Formats: sequence, C-alpha cells, structure tokens
Amino acid sequence: MSQQQPGFSVSDLIDLERYPLDQPQSPELAAVIAGALETLDDTGVCLLPGFIRDDAVALLVEESRSLTGTTHRQDHEEIAYGHYRQRLDEFPQGHAVRRTSTFRMNLVPGDMVSADGPLRTIFHWQPLTDFIATLTRHPVLHRVADPLLDCNISVLNPGDTHGWHYDGNDFSVTLMLQTAESGGRFEFYPNIASPDDENFDAVTAVHDGVREGILTTPLEAGTLNVFHGRYSIHHVTPVEGKRPRMLSIFSYHEEPGMMFPANTQKIYTGRTAT
Ligand SMILES: [Fe+2]
Repeated sequence: MSQQQPGFSVSDLIDLERYPLDQPQSPELAAVIAGALETLDDTGVCLLPGFIRDDAVALLVEESRSLTGTTHRQDHEEIAYGHYRQRLDEFPQGHAVRRTSTFRMNLVPGDMVSADGPLRTIFHWQPLTDFIATLTRHPVLHRVADPLLDCNISVLNPGDTHGWHYDGNDFSVTLMLQTAESGGRFEFYPNIASPDDENFDAVTAVHDGVREGILTTPLEAGTLNVFHGRYSIHHVTPVEGKRPRMLSIFSYHEEPGMMFPANTQKIYTGRTAT
C-alpha cells in the first residue's frame, strides 16, 4: 500500500485517554483488555463506549452521509444460514433452516470509502488491528484485502431492518456512528449454536418471537462493538423515526490477503471485485 498522508490524526478520532491503544504496555490498556475479555467470555459481546471522541463522531457521520448515494440496497426475505443455502431441500417446511426474516438495508461498498478520510484513518491504524487480535485471542490478525468488504458503512433508513442471521466469520467489529431515534436495536442470542449443535429448536423459537435468551445491547454513537457472531444468531430491529441508523463494519482475518467469495461481494455490494 502506498504511503498515504492522512488528513486526520488518530488521536483526534479515538479517545486515547480512555482507550490508550497507542501505549500497548500500559497498565491502563491492560485493564481495558482484561475487562473486555471477561465480558466477551461471559456474553460473546464487548462494548467499548466512547471509543470515538464526540467531535469525531460528527465527522464520521458527515463522511457517511456524503456516501449514502453509493449504497447497495438489499430488500428481500432471507434465511439465517448462509452455509445451508444450497441444501434447503434436505429440510422440511417450517424447519429452522428454512425460516426467513426481512433484510432491508443499504451498504456503502468499501471502495467508496476514501483512503484518507476519518473512517479509514481509524481502520488502517495498526494498533487497532493489534487490539482486535488481542480481544479475539488471535496471535495476529490482518485487515481483509477485499476492496469491497473490508471497511463498510451500513445505513438503515426508517423501516429498514437487518434480519436474523449468523456471521460467516468468527467475530465482527462494528462502530456505531448514528443511532435511530427508536428501534434499530441490535439483539442477539449468545452462543445459541456451537460447532457441534445447531440447536434448531431454539432457533425456531427465536423466529416464532420467543424472547427468552435474547440480549439487547445499548449501542450508542461512538461505541466500538466486538462480537462473536458465528454461533450467536442476531438481528437489528426495524428503524423507527426519521434518523437513519449508521454503523461501520471492519473485517479482519487470520491470514493476509483474504477476499470474500464473489457471491458474498455481489449480495452485499451489487458488484464483484475482479
Ligand atoms: Fe452480523
């Protein structure tokens, strides 16, 4: 990657007093990490409120607003299991695998996000990648190489919703930029499934509206969210009110050079990176 001269300084964007990622050996950062790991182990999710400084949140919202014309829209009913998509015939009508929910959402493709804007200044800062590796217990992590799906912005307008699903990767990292006036709540069922047990009965109950086991996280603007989404089914409730919900998504992988499959790129951005 060429040497960029970023127009923004990380210290103006991330609250390094509260989260001193620039001082990896400091006891203050060690305390942040210890607390986050404990929460992740307990609940599968860890929120770092105030990760982005208040005035920087405004900058990120402005950047996101300027990109809403570039979004790719999904508006369809979809199953929660990407990995069963080719095997639906093996399951009877009404089975958890065949249950669908509504996906009505817009995504800014990664290549629309400026390399020297505030969002990519945060995403490309190596101490953040190292921090995420520590929180997810990886010796090393790499930002994915996929130009369409490395650093994205999800925009949910009034009435939009992100249906029940699992993530294809083990963990997700998001940054809340702007909350909805109401609705737009991130809800998840921690570890409802495991590598050995899909727990289909419980997933069916979730689709039927049973609330037992579901957690709702108080995501505020400026909060960094690290979340184990591979085995925890999750969704975002419909956005209410006039204000769009805007959230950025950062993607990492254990190996360098990772690209998502072409059909994943197409579903989320309407294009493939060739
Ligand atoms: Fe997800």
